[in-house]
Parts: sequence; C-alpha cells; structure tokens
Amino acid sequence: MYLDSGATSQKPRQVLDAERNFYEHSNAAVHRGAHLLAEEASIAYEGARQVLADFLNAELDEVIFTKSATESINALAYSFGNSANGSRFALKPGDRIVVSEIEHHANLIPWQQLAKRTGAELVWFSVDSEGRLDLSNLEELINPSTKIVAITHQSNVLGTIVPIKDIVSRAHSVGAVVVLDACQSAPHFAIDVKALEIDFLAFSAHKALGPTGIGILWGRSEFLNSMEPFLTGGSMIESVTMTEAKWAASPKRFEAGVPNMAQAVGFAAAINYLNELGMDNVAKHEQDLTAYALKKFLQLDKVEVIGPKNNIDRGSVISFTIEGIHPHDVGQVLDQYGVAVRTGHHCAWPLMRKLGLVGTTRASFYVYNDEADVDALIDSILEAQKYFKV
Ligand code: ALA
Repeated sequence: MYLDSGATSQKPRQVLDAERNFYEHSNAAVHRGAHLLAEEASIAYEGARQVLADFLNAELDEVIFTKSATESINALAYSFGNSANGSRFALKPGDRIVVSEIEHHANLIPWQQLAKRTGAELVWFSVDSEGRLDLSNLEELINPSTKIVAITHQSNVLGTIVPIKDIVSRAHSVGAVVVLDACQSAPHFAIDVKALEIDFLAFSAHKALGPTGIGILWGRSEFLNSMEPFLTGGSMIESVTMTEAKWAASPKRFEAGVPNMAQAVGFAAAINYLNELGMDNVAKHEQDLTAYALKKFLQLDKVEVIGPKNNIDRGSVISFTIEGIHPHDVGQVLDQYGVAVRTGHHCAWPLMRKLGLVGTTRASFYVYNDEADVDALIDSILEAQKYFKV
C-alpha cells in the first residue's frame, strides 16, 4: 500500500515508455545540430512544453523546464536578487517578502536567503489551531513595502488548501508579485493560472506521475522577458562576444545548457495520463477517499489528525500522531504491514515547531489508492497501538 505520494508518486508505464521511446528514437541535443534527430528531439521537447502550457492554461513561452520545483523557486529568488536597482524585481532594505508558516523548506529557504542577501524583511502568515492560515492580518502583513508573496497552494503536512484569491488581490493592490508553490496542488486538481491571477508558479513532475529531474517554472511572459536569468551558458543567449552576452527571450533565457529532454517528454506523458483521467475526476476521487479516511481516523482512540478534520478546502494528505508512539516507530510498524507512509518533519520544520510536535506520520493518497488502502492503514495503526500497548 503506497501512501507516500506527497513525497513522490509512482509512475504509469506510459511515462516509462515515453522516456525509453525518446532515447531509442529521438535522442539528440535539442535546439542544436542540423540533422533530423536533433529536429525530432526539439519537436518532442517543445511538444512537451505545449502539453504543460495547456495543462495550466498558460502561454507556450511562459513555461520553463527546470530540474525541480526547488530549482524553479531558487531560480526566481536568484533572478530577483540579480535585478538591477530600479527594476520592479530588485529588493532593498525595507522591502518585504511574505511567506507562511506552512511552507515546506523549498518555498521558505530560498526566500530567507534572498532576504539575507538584499536586506529585505521576511514576514509570514501564521497557522491557526485548525491548520488553516490566519488571514486576519492580511492588509497589515502585505503592506505597500511588499514586493513578493510566496505561498503554498496546499500544505504538504496538513493538507490545507490556501484560499489565495484574497492574498492575490491584496498583493496586486500594493504592486507585489505572487509566487504559488503548486507542488501539492497541480498533481491533484485543475490549475488555471489565468483564473488564479497569480504571477509565478512552480511544481515538479515526480509528484504528478512523472519522472524525477524535471519541474517547471511558470511566469507571466511580460515579467519573464524583463527578468535576469539564474543559470547562464549555452542556449539562453541571443548573441555573445568575449566580454558580453545578450539574453534570449523566455523560455530559452531560463534554460541554459542541454535540458532534461527525455524527462520533459516523460513529464508530458504523465500530464497526458492525468488529462485522460480528467483532473476533476482525479480531484473527486481523492476527495472521496479523504472523506472516507477522515471518518475512520476520527473514530480512532488516542490518534489525532493534525490539520483540518473536515474535507473542506483540504487535499488528500492526512498527518496524524498516536499518543505514546514516536512517528518513526509508527512508520516502522506500518511498514511491517506493507503500508508505506512518511514520518518526521516533512521538510516543514518551522511548522512542526509551531505545532509543538517532533513530527507526524503522514499518509498521502493519489489516483491509484482506494478504500482498501485506507482500511489497511487504519488496521496497521491499531496493530501499532497493540504492539506498543498504548
Ligand atoms: N516535499 C515533499 C514531501 O512533502 C518531499 O514529502
């Protein structure tokens, strides 16, 4: 029973076939070479970009392939940090970056570092006792000094889906840009970047049925084309002399070097697989499963769900603690019953500190899970309680 898709998903055969097919039939360095294979590789790679653009309701030149969501967020933070004084992306002492207490490290540390490099101030939304963001101080927190609001769409620990509409409208009213960390949302429900009115978004393929080593950064093209690149080198230039280089337009500007071509093709195969399932069906399946699981969890003795206990605005991640048993011991016993979960701080250490926990045990569901998996999880929790006599 694989209940750890929040960390990484399993991959359908179509994804493996797409990667192998690329290597067997189209392998060449994209955007280089005058031969047929190079052309076929470029068509496959750019085709993958189109699949991602359609998936997000984005424009083609707005989709940048990176190696991971973590790299996407770092690329943005470095790009902002490299901006010349006077640019809307340049930060200085007194400027503000807003995050939240429920961020996983990938959407926290790059902003901490950017704040340190520029002298900007890092502030954050708090999490309340139900595991929701406290937006009561929205106007105070996102004040006219705010330049960046970087927020998760769905907590990887609590499952909380953040209501970003008010955050986006307040951020834009003060001239700040909104970066959405969609690692835990884009694989699970439909995302429309235009409807969300956000400015940047990141997610990785490997949590969305796709391969490791590939993620995307999406941004509005009017921004991307006036931003500084993070990585420099081949392919991202329009012209080069011995002393100067002029940047190409997006997306090339942000894709230095030979990219992860086969992984991009595998990513597109995963997205096509999700499209065939239908993202609304994916979301409904997970909502039903989460409702089923929550009902069972709430009947357990000495087990606490950490995060929203109802199915409103929450995704298919259930973190829990068992009184008297350390999460790592819980994980070990569950593993003995064939139930794979994640334990510990889930790369969200500040959230654990805020909740006063050393860690939790986390079950996370995806398209291939069903009620039998939840039943096995619940049974193995009862076995763990029996084993530890709590
Ligand atoms: N951020 C990933 C998780 O939640 C790795 O497990």
